[in-house]
Amino acid sequence: MERMIRRTFVLCLFAALDALLLPVGAQTNPFLTKPYLQLGDAPKPAAKESLVLLWHAADTDQAWGVEYKGEGQSKWVPANASTLRRVNVKGFEAHRVYQATLSGLKPGGAFSYRVTLAGKPVFEDKGLARKPAGVTSTFAVLGDIAQNSDGQKAVAFEISKAKPDYVFMVGDVVYGRGLVTEYYQKFFPIYNADQAARNVGGPVLRSTLTVANLGNHDSQPQVDLEKTPDGLAYFYYWSQPMNGPLTEKSGNGVPELKGSSEQVADFARTAPNFPRMGMYSFDYGDVHWTMLDSNPYVDWTDPKLREWVRNDLRAAKKMPWRFVGLHHPPFNSSKAHFNDQWMRLLSDIFEEEGVQVVFSGHVHNYQRSHPIRFKPNAEQAAKRPMIKGKIDGAFTLDKSFDGAKNTKPQGVIWLVTGAGGAGLYNPEQETDPSSWQEFTVKFVSTIHSFTHVTVNPKSVQIKQIAADGRELDKFTITQ
Ligand SMILES: [Fe+2]
Repeated sequence: MERMIRRTFVLCLFAALDALLLPVGAQTNPFLTKPYLQLGDAPKPAAKESLVLLWHAADTDQAWGVEYKGEGQSKWVPANASTLRRVNVKGFEAHRVYQATLSGLKPGGAFSYRVTLAGKPVFEDKGLARKPAGVTSTFAVLGDIAQNSDGQKAVAFEISKAKPDYVFMVGDVVYGRGLVTEYYQKFFPIYNADQAARNVGGPVLRSTLTVANLGNHDSQPQVDLEKTPDGLAYFYYWSQPMNGPLTEKSGNGVPELKGSSEQVADFARTAPNFPRMGMYSFDYGDVHWTMLDSNPYVDWTDPKLREWVRNDLRAAKKMPWRFVGLHHPPFNSSKAHFNDQWMRLLSDIFEEEGVQVVFSGHVHNYQRSHPIRFKPNAEQAAKRPMIKGKIDGAFTLDKSFDGAKNTKPQGVIWLVTGAGGAGLYNPEQETDPSSWQEFTVKFVSTIHSFTHVTVNPKSVQIKQIAADGRELDKFTITQ
């Protein structure tokens, strides 16, 4: 008997030691999606910064907790962990999206965080609070991402290596219909991978603030919840500023929801941020960002929406840099999507309010334009263009800007950075500049890539980095 007790005691001791020796996260994984950092509804920088930590877990009550501490601090600070929403849609297991706000962070300061379950740490990582104006900040931009391709994984790996301060995903985050299942199959496993490897992806989302806006694969003019009950997952999984112009639940700028009245009501309950979070603006470092939804269900001749864009940019007049993110590039040399030009109708506002760069995706390659000044044909500008409409007009191109010797652009530079993972478009055009529009200076369509930007108060350096780490383009803008 005594021998048996001794044996049991030794076995228990080994089991306890084993559990202690296992690294955090190697025990049974309690997450459906591991923690990831979001901006939350914090458009403006503050003396005490905050970020929101989200994670997904099974639809059962569990005792979650979060603790965090700034670099150099010895004491962990508790953060309240609460359920942000319960996602219960046909075709995927019901789950909860949890959130904890990490507040009181030092602007630009590094911090550590850990998630606990029943008091025991089950996940830990590090992050960086939003940087204030006046210091160097870096970010990555890419669109047209989650298709489970080798290129997507290699780009995610390169971004995790580059360690930008934050990442902006300029639409078409997941293919092909913005579904919960697609986030789970093709996005989180690659952008929130446990390891950084070229054929896997990287642990980007858990350590790097990431923001996104809507592309045509994330949101459609009509979203039929009968056919795609897990659609519009963007509104479930991102937590971003709620300061955009879409204050009504329907009307111009809002996708039409179809399905049973119960389904539509369920969606409204689960995603109270719909449609508001479809457009927003925020500041990071010396940049003011205006994030628009360029989907064809938005009529950009609408004076109310145009006014919002103008006022948003005007209010940021004192910021050194004003950048815009919108999915559909209206100045595009690819044969693919060439006629998707309706966003040209905002170029007058961008020019007048001093936007320096517009970042787009949609076309799956990389393109850089000369600085452009564009006057649309007055008749076309006055009426709503056709969905696939071309907008003609008069161009003034600043061909003297080269981003090296002459770094002061006269006009807006339009970048297409839609080579984030989906199948590339028009590779044959890369070596055929005669097929490019006159406004295009650079066109790379044979390899996946992302844009890497370094921002200072007086200069911005933009590089295009390929999935194999090569530098595809580089130019500088100064004030
Ligand atoms: Fe697209």
